[in-house]
Amino acid sequence: MSANMGESEASATPGPTEWGQGQHGVGPWEVEHPGEPAPVDDPRYDPELLAMGDRRNVVDAYRYLRREAIVADIDTRRHALHIAIENFENDANIGTVVRTANAFAVDTVHIVGRRRWNRRGAMVTDRYQHLLHHDTTDSVVAWAAEHGLTVVAIDNTPGSVPLETVELPKRCLLLFGQEGPGVTAAAQAAAVMTCSIAQFGSTRSINAGVAAGIAMHAWIRQHADLSLAW
Ligand SMILES: C[S@@+](CC[C@H](N)C(=O)[O-])C[C@H]1O[C@@H](n2cnc3c(N)ncnc32)[C@H](O)[C@@H]1O
Repeated sequence: MSANMGESEASATPGPTEWGQGQHGVGPWEVEHPGEPAPVDDPRYDPELLAMGDRRNVVDAYRYLRREAIVADIDTRRHALHIAIENFENDANIGTVVRTANAFAVDTVHIVGRRRWNRRGAMVTDRYQHLLHHDTTDSVVAWAAEHGLTVVAIDNTPGSVPLETVELPKRCLLLFGQEGPGVTAAAQAAAVMTCSIAQFGSTRSINAGVAAGIAMHAWIRQHADLSLAW
């Protein structure tokens, strides 16, 4: 298991929404706040962003702040919700899962299996999201037990219970499988339950990134304080 705050070579370079083409974000502080002194003495602020403007894909409350200051603020708002996704075959959906986890202020996204994953779908949100790698499903399950988290597997396998009808644990690790094999037998064995998302069409399953978004939002509906949402 290893910690990763998105400082890999892949995410160290500006991404597609980190530095845009000037279509969104704010200009230099002196342009946006004429006559108001720039907070150059506040260490949370980035002098370069204050001088040049901030075009990153961050909410307005975080404009001009250094990445570390943004992470520190999200840390005060994170939920008791963890996400794990099995990555034994290099699942292309992990970026989407990370981006959605960031949006819901998930505590940590756990990548299980292969260390490498396609960051494109994360749209640079991995810079602000705690990520942990585990070699095996047993390892993430043990980590969850050590941290008082109840594991809930998400898949539409036999024996699963409808996500739409269950009460999810507050301190929870939602564990997702990957395209093809789905969630492993080891994950289901360790989980207090496996939850399925109701489907009504012809496909056997939905995209893992979409399933993760639906399940995270189910937790949010049950446990989040909506008065704290942006
Ligand atoms: C594309 S599915 C994989 C396999 C699926 N079990 C099958 O038989 O085709 C990838 C992952 O997305 C999630 N998933 C997809 N559809 C789901 C559903 N209807 N209910 C719960 N999870 C689902 C699960 O975590 C699953 O492991």
